[in-house]
Amino acid sequence: MVKIEPFEVEQWMDRYEVTPGVINIAETCAASVSIDELVDLSRDKTAPGPLDTSKKLTYGAIPGSKALRERVASLLDRGASLTETRSFPPENVIITQGAISANFLLIYTLIGPGDHVICVYPTYQQLYDVPKSLGAEVSLWKLKEENGYIPDISELEGLVKPNTKLIIINNPNNPTGSTTPKSVLSDMVEFARSRDITILSDEVYSPLYHSLPADQEAPPSILTFGYNKTVATGSMSKAFALAGIRVGWVASRDSSLIKAVSSARDYTTISVSQLDDQVASYALSKEVLASLMKRNLELAKTNLGLLAEFVDKYSQVCSWVRPTAGTTALIKFTGKGKDGKREPVKDGEFVVDLLEETKVLVMPGSVCFGKGEDFEGTVRIGYVCHTEVLREGLEKMGAYVEQFLL
Ligand SMILES: Cc1ncc(COP(=O)(O)O)c(C=O)c1O
Repeated sequence: MVKIEPFEVEQWMDRYEVTPGVINIAETCAASVSIDELVDLSRDKTAPGPLDTSKKLTYGAIPGSKALRERVASLLDRGASLTETRSFPPENVIITQGAISANFLLIYTLIGPGDHVICVYPTYQQLYDVPKSLGAEVSLWKLKEENGYIPDISELEGLVKPNTKLIIINNPNNPTGSTTPKSVLSDMVEFARSRDITILSDEVYSPLYHSLPADQEAPPSILTFGYNKTVATGSMSKAFALAGIRVGWVASRDSSLIKAVSSARDYTTISVSQLDDQVASYALSKEVLASLMKRNLELAKTNLGLLAEFVDKYSQVCSWVRPTAGTTALIKFTGKGKDGKREPVKDGEFVVDLLEETKVLVMPGSVCFGKGEDFEGTVRIGYVCHTEVLREGLEKMGAYVEQFLL
């Protein structure tokens, strides 16, 4: 049997999101849209919708349709003119069932016993536990609150080993909502280049850069820094609000790596659903993309404002590093300790109790993202749900805080 840790966040979600009457502010997707809403968002109201219902449902193009790969490739060029003059080749984009398959395939293709991997932490558990399950040694590159949860490049020297094969980052980061800026990415690429290490950047929350400081530009994809040994994964689920179509991608300028990934993929995926491919292509078309992103960026910005009001109001109990991008925030909650001193709540128990008392669902940080003391008392909130859901969730959570934590 394969040796792999239970995937905590997926199991917690599975267990609790079906609670009758749940107010779910744990979800990491920008509030999902329907096909009707997508069509409404289109600039061209007379154009046909995404689905050509006369089209025969064959397997379709094995690596994904030409249209979809071209549109993903142009997404990956975002911000590229500054650092990379060659536009990204669509044939180096492979379509997968979500970013979860893209990450798995890349790690499965590249990593085996005897390899060493460095992975940022906290992050999506898949990114450090899949390499471990394949026999690699994994060093965690801990993101610190005092650094705004941005990776510290000077720590790489102490983490790297002669057999380090892969550095894994997640930008923007789940669960903290931090953005690794371009200058840090550039230093990371130089470090990796000098040691011939590949970088995997999970960019599933890109380009949802909604709250960067005015003097900070949104970072471009890791693929734009002129180093071939970089891989980006992404999907339609989070920033594009279309998790239900299960479309993601893996992309790299290294054609031999893409060939190896495609070869591994042949054993798990013939092609993705042709209906999903059509919907994704439509959402990324020039008629729809800008208005879909405008909707999601505005929703994220508005909702982050509401969350910030909550954190301010209950500053005696909660603290955070305000997110700059993505859909999630990591908030630390304290309760009354025995001798009157405030101490971090036990986040697993807090989340279950909050759900039982109020029906509000959030995720426990130290259980799901960064095991152990570092993240004790933290809770991940997915705040880019419908604004009314967030409002109700925060109101109920506020009443809970007043009754049990203050
Ligand atoms: C960082 C990260 N990567 C990948 C995924 C997988 O997303 P999907 O398979 O829906 O694209 C998630 C989902 O929460 C995530 O947070």
